[in-house]
Amino acid sequence: MQADIRIVEVGPRDGLQAEAVTLPASVRAALVDRLVAAGLRAIEVGSFVSERHVPQMAGTAEVLAAARRAPDARFIALVPNLRGVEAALAAGADEVAVFASASESFSRRNINCTVAESLARFAPIVARLDGRLPVRGYVSCAFGCPYEGDVALAAVVRLAERLVEMGCYEVSIADTIGVATPRQAREVAAAVAAAIGADRVALHFHDTRGQALANIHAGIEAGIRSFDASVAGLGGCPFAPGATGNVATEDVVYMLNGMGLSTGIDLPALIAAGAFVSGHLGKGTQSRVARAQAARSVA
Ligand code: HMG
Ligand code: MG
Repeated sequence: MQADIRIVEVGPRDGLQAEAVTLPASVRAALVDRLVAAGLRAIEVGSFVSERHVPQMAGTAEVLAAARRAPDARFIALVPNLRGVEAALAAGADEVAVFASASESFSRRNINCTVAESLARFAPIVARLDGRLPVRGYVSCAFGCPYEGDVALAAVVRLAERLVEMGCYEVSIADTIGVATPRQAREVAAAVAAAIGADRVALHFHDTRGQALANIHAGIEAGIRSFDASVAGLGGCPFAPGATGNVATEDVVYMLNGMGLSTGIDLPALIAAGAFVSGHLGKGTQSRVARAQAARSVA
């Protein structure tokens, strides 16, 4: 049975890329196994980017090799260029994700090129894949930029349209620094949905200011059915100062359960996966639901 809401789990990539502790590939693969067992069916398992820029993501090929496959679970790899795609293909990724920014300053800091140059890098990626793997796109800084502040909605819509024209089956509209509030979330989601179709839009909220669940709710009201989230609320971007983790997958699933919207995810198993990775990182979970559960079990 198809779930009402699709969750793309980005913990093993977005969650771990900015952590002070670099986890070995074997632990990252064991996390992916637990996420699959909890019912997640789209998991961003890592990225093929410069190891000098993001050392936490070294060894993504080993993660893909070691994680157990489930027939209907898709392992996604984030790639910045053709070299990343070659690595993703060689490692057996099921899907790749490309990323562009709605703001020029963030594009420069994140991937050292202009927005137009980043789009120009995607053409050979799509040509190389030639339909073999699905491509997902991201629009970073869609709700605000750490360097420029406000970002024009027209720039977000135009970029989402370009990504679809270039072959992305879905575009994840990202609040990289967690500044959005529900009214803006609804406005941006509705504008992008009007341009590319609601079924091609996903929303990706970092929870820096505690607005992510409310923003997801606003997105649902705008007709969006696909959301990114990160187990234990891990996450951040090394090139977005002050940005904290993504909304915790546990908290999203709890909210959706309460709304009667199915996800196919087993919440206790997901909480256990969050406890597993938090233990390896040596820090507490950011998931409020997981914390409440832990408090109940000691009480
Ligand atoms: P560059 O310096 O402009 O280009 O980097 P370069 O071609 O000179 O490459 C620099 C180094 O990277 C070289 O190695 C290359 O060999 C190597 P060095 O000479 O330093 O030893 N290189 C690669 N290595 C592995 N895999 C590759 C690859 N390509 C080049 N595919 C580049 C350009 C894009 C590579 C670099 O800037 C980079 O890797 N940046 C990291 C970007 C990143 O991972 N950012 C975080 C993910 S995006 C994100 O978090 C936002 C998102 O969550 C949505 C949201 O919240 O907004 C998706
Ligand atoms: Mg992100």
